[in-house]
Amino acid sequence: MSDFRTRPVTVPSVRAAKRRLGHLPLVMVTAYDAPGGRIAEAAGVDLILVGDSVANNVLGYEDTLQVTVGDMAHHTAAVARTRPLALLVADLPWMSYHLDPADTVRNAAVLIRAGAKAVKLEGGRTRLPMISALVDTEIPVMGHLGLTPQSVNVMGGHRVQGREAAAAERLVEDARAIADAGCFALVIEGVPAALATLLTDELDVPTIGIGAGPGCDGQVLVLHDLLGLNQWAPKFVRRYGNLEVEATEAVTAFAADVRSGAFPGDAESYH
Ligand code: KIV
Repeated sequence: MSDFRTRPVTVPSVRAAKRRLGHLPLVMVTAYDAPGGRIAEAAGVDLILVGDSVANNVLGYEDTLQVTVGDMAHHTAAVARTRPLALLVADLPWMSYHLDPADTVRNAAVLIRAGAKAVKLEGGRTRLPMISALVDTEIPVMGHLGLTPQSVNVMGGHRVQGREAAAAERLVEDARAIADAGCFALVIEGVPAALATLLTDELDVPTIGIGAGPGCDGQVLVLHDLLGLNQWAPKFVRRYGNLEVEATEAVTAFAADVRSGAFPGDAESYH
């Protein structure tokens, strides 16, 4: 999809981006603020996800269940102000789409008005009425199956899903159902690589994997994980930077310069 970088990436262009049709793998990263949005855009990613993982990566919560629609709108607006060409997708947080379709649409509209071009929600067939309501109100929706972090308490932790045949079959049925209901792409998280490949072959919309092996139509990572801003990261993360260490060294050097009188110098002073 790198040919999209001269003009905005759109929902239809993502929907069509199946690797089996010759498309390059889709690239998605999270961003939660303007610097993150600028970095992702400058790197030429196809999609920027304002994930509810802002909870763990920025706000210091243990899980994603703590963030609200207001929190998500706040962070979505910050990324949207950078006016990325990448498609900006915002996560619907826990309990913003679980009760009824009208509530779901109202909450999604808050994120769209904050600058998102699409929303993402977690879950399978139980979400069909909400997905249909979003599609009916012209709000593009991305699905998210497998290890769905908002289900952390039901799953008993962040565990790989779909290892047993019955669970894998349920995932395939869920994927077919939400794709048929109108999801334009599906995030597949934390499932065996063979299952993710099967899902990718089954579906006409692209799959974007995270901890789901190389067989998907695209890959997503959390920006803070790939930059090395988190001390711990799951097995599926590849670190492309070590920014926490670099940032700590920079602040340590600043502190030492202040204490020794080396900062500010003449060049950093007004005359
Ligand atoms: O919130 C998030 O970061 C996500 C990704 C893991 C896909 O949903």
